[in-house]
Amino acid sequence: MNNRINIAIDGPAGAGKSTVARLVANQLSYIYVDTGAMYRAVTWFLTKHGVGPEVPDQVLEHVQHMLIELTPDHGGQRVWVNGEDVTSYIRTPQVNGLVSRYAQIEGLRTHLVQLQRQMALRKGVVMDGRDIGTTVLPDAEVKIFMTATVKERALRRFNEMNDAERTSLEQLEKDISMRDTLDEQREISPLRRAEDAILLDTTEMNIHQVVEKIVSLCRSQMDGERLR
Ligand code: CDP
Ligand code: CDP
Repeated sequence: MNNRINIAIDGPAGAGKSTVARLVANQLSYIYVDTGAMYRAVTWFLTKHGVGPEVPDQVLEHVQHMLIELTPDHGGQRVWVNGEDVTSYIRTPQVNGLVSRYAQIEGLRTHLVQLQRQMALRKGVVMDGRDIGTTVLPDAEVKIFMTATVKERALRRFNEMNDAERTSLEQLEKDISMRDTLDEQREISPLRRAEDAILLDTTEMNIHQVVEKIVSLCRSQMDGERLR
């Protein structure tokens, strides 16, 4: 009997969603889907074409001509736009600074949510983002809302930067807080915990502890599905 489930992981920047979601997917032999990478890919493509978030009609027009694909890669994920691998272009400070503005555009969200739902149709997906438990997969069998203090999240991002990209910790904290505010206050699918999501504060937890906790929640849920 197929007892595969879908797992939704939401939370603010730097909470550990993608690192943990990837490892959980590996342990369960599930597919990992990083939805943030899709918003980032759109941001990269549109800035390259000089289309800003202040002209939603043009954004939507361009998005119709964008083929966005995600492929698995060594337990992680690669992102492709119209056949070009853009994985290494989408985590720049420029994209970081603009992505939450494009992510406010309703038509763009509708388009990406549709693609994301298709990816999860056959179950066995670990999907991370901002609106997965509330909007994309409201029926996901396991929902996690992952948080950590903004100080800890900025520190985590600081530690992953190399010398060439490093900005001050204070600046990072400001940038992250700004993105949190835009994501939490937008009109369409704002970042918030679904009522049935489990709140996981990872400030004092290492990656291994978070992964173990989620995998154990998933296994209990799968056992329940098997008995149904
Ligand atoms: O990795 P990080 O947490 O910094 O960000 P991300 O997951 O790559 O997402 C980048 C941005 O895309 C977020 O700040 C949101 O503005 C947007 N996003 C969204 O609106 N909905 C999602 N499901 C995923 C990302
Ligand atoms: O996807 P999200 O923006 O939520 O965070 P991430 O990119 O998965 O994690 C940000 C950084 O925090 C990575 O370098 C992780 O290795 C690190 N991390 C950590 O130190 N402790 C955790 N419990 C989770 C993540």
